Amino acid sequence: MKKRKNILQTILSLVTVMVVIVVFQTVLFVIQIQNNAQFYQNYNNKESSIRPITSTKEIIERSPKRILYPQFDLDNVNRNWTDTVSLIRSPKETNRRYLTMGLVTAKRPQNTVYLYNTLKSLITNANREDFREIYIVILLSDLDQEWRTNMTSEIVNRYPQEVKNGTIKIIGSFDWMYPSLTNLTHHRKWHSESKATWKAKQNIDFVLLWLYVYKTKLSEFYLHLEDDVITVGGYIKAMKNFINDQKGEWTCLEFSELGMIAKLYHTHDLEALAKMVALFYQEQPADNTYLHFNPQMLQFRRIIRKPTLFQHIGMTSSQWGHVQALKDRFFVANDQKKVLKGDNPPAKVFTSLRFLSKHSPENAYNTSFGYFWSKSKARKNDNFRIIFNKPQSIKRIVVNSGLDVFPEDKIYSGLLEISSKSINKNDCTDYKIIGQFVNGKVDVQNVPPSIKYNRHSLCSNTVPKVTKLLGDHS
Ligand SMILES: *[C@@H]1O[C@H](CO)[C@@H](O)[C@H](O)[C@H]1NC(C)=O
Ligand SMILES: *[C@@H]1O[C@H](CO)[C@@H](O)[C@H](O)[C@H]1NC(C)=O
Ligand SMILES: *[C@@H]1O[C@H](CO)[C@@H](O)[C@H](O)[C@H]1NC(C)=O
Ligand SMILES: *[C@@H]1O[C@H](CO)[C@@H](O)[C@H](O)[C@H]1NC(C)=O
Ligand SMILES: *[C@@H]1O[C@H](CO)[C@@H](O)[C@H](O)[C@H]1NC(C)=O
Repeated sequence: MKKRKNILQTILSLVTVMVVIVVFQTVLFVIQIQNNAQFYQNYNNKESSIRPITSTKEIIERSPKRILYPQFDLDNVNRNWTDTVSLIRSPKETNRRYLTMGLVTAKRPQNTVYLYNTLKSLITNANREDFREIYIVILLSDLDQEWRTNMTSEIVNRYPQEVKNGTIKIIGSFDWMYPSLTNLTHHRKWHSESKATWKAKQNIDFVLLWLYVYKTKLSEFYLHLEDDVITVGGYIKAMKNFINDQKGEWTCLEFSELGMIAKLYHTHDLEALAKMVALFYQEQPADNTYLHFNPQMLQFRRIIRKPTLFQHIGMTSSQWGHVQALKDRFFVANDQKKVLKGDNPPAKVFTSLRFLSKHSPENAYNTSFGYFWSKSKARKNDNFRIIFNKPQSIKRIVVNSGLDVFPEDKIYSGLLEISSKSINKNDCTDYKIIGQFVNGKVDVQNVPPSIKYNRHSLCSNTVPKVTKLLGDHS
């Protein structure tokens, strides 16, 4: 009996503690509401003079290691901010469309502008009926007024109709929106200061663009692009099909494997994505943060449509002095050139040219997506060697170089040689010249019969001479 009483007491005391906690929390909650109300009252008196935490001394003193930048509530600053950011007059939207494509553009060195090629590609490659269902939002992120005017009038000149009916929208970022971008203390150690600054600014640009699309509720879906990409005919239909083919829940669908190019979100998720990117604006570039955002939204694997629909064309990054030549391996147009492929006999492939593993010589030979791409300047006797695993009887050999998207990157001068006399497992001797590259191609229809059948493996070897090969941009 005594024991039972003890237990009962324990239970009772727990209940008491819980009640106290609840009461305590309620009190805290009430205090918080009062504080908030006071904040808003104060705020309203100050109107739009509020500048989000930029160089406020107290904050730096309070948190010496880093400044959190989570409060990106532009509505607090200016209820009409979506009107204020608009650089061109646009009809008031009544229709929610299917898709908004958004991109940020900034000044590049030497006045390089890829944006016009990007717009042309987006507009000419959309089917007319799909085009009525999209918006394109361009954020001009440099504050230089003259540059903004130039860019805006150029876009309006090129696409007057699309601007008039609201399909193309141009917005500009506010200067006060950017937190301090100097002395960023917390970023990747191997990033230079200029890169850290550039990435941090880019994060804030993206955040504004996403919040704009989120708040204006332009569309059901949002596709994030960059200002230096191209696409292929019928891409909107292809994206629609991919969206409709999804069986389960998803957060992010990708139409390019690279960076922040062609990531598709539901528009209603953009606020959360924007806030997460803003929170870590110094530490992580958005193209890394989104990879952590998706799992938080319970999508644990990347969903990339292959072949991909967007290719990166930029070489001059808007980060000054930085040359960026990243290319999507799975871009659908890479594959258009592979019409002749599929029946190559099993072989080992070698080259004396330098390459990145994702652009390995096998890519050009086997049926996978992708292509061979060398960055080294080809010299005399550089070669690309194919050694068949078994002797082959061959009627025709076709070698093709240059992609639609990079027509300059091809073999300008080279020879096709074959041999049936191997010196070791990886090379032959006594090569015979059977063809010469013309305009990046060689096609030998009647491979000499004398070497068609042989007990040794058949080697095929191209020897470029004064050659400019894929990726040589100097
Ligand atoms: C905001 O928009 C409303 C309605 O469009 C308008 O009446 C008001 O004057 C605007 N306020 C500012 C500060 O632009
Ligand atoms: C806007 O104008 C373009 C060009 O004339 C046209 O293709 C498109 O269908 C128009 N969009 C809408 C929503 O009217
Ligand atoms: C704007 O355009 C004018 C005329 O084409 C040009 O002279 C000027 O350099 C441009 N300014 C900027 C900042 O791009
Ligand atoms: C940046 O940091 C350096 C060294 O800590 C300091 O001297 C300088 O005043 C800081 N600059 C700004 C703009 O805060
Ligand atoms: C083609 O080559 C690439 C690069 O070596 C390899 O990753 C891929 O699996 C190969 N595909 C086939 C079908 O052999």
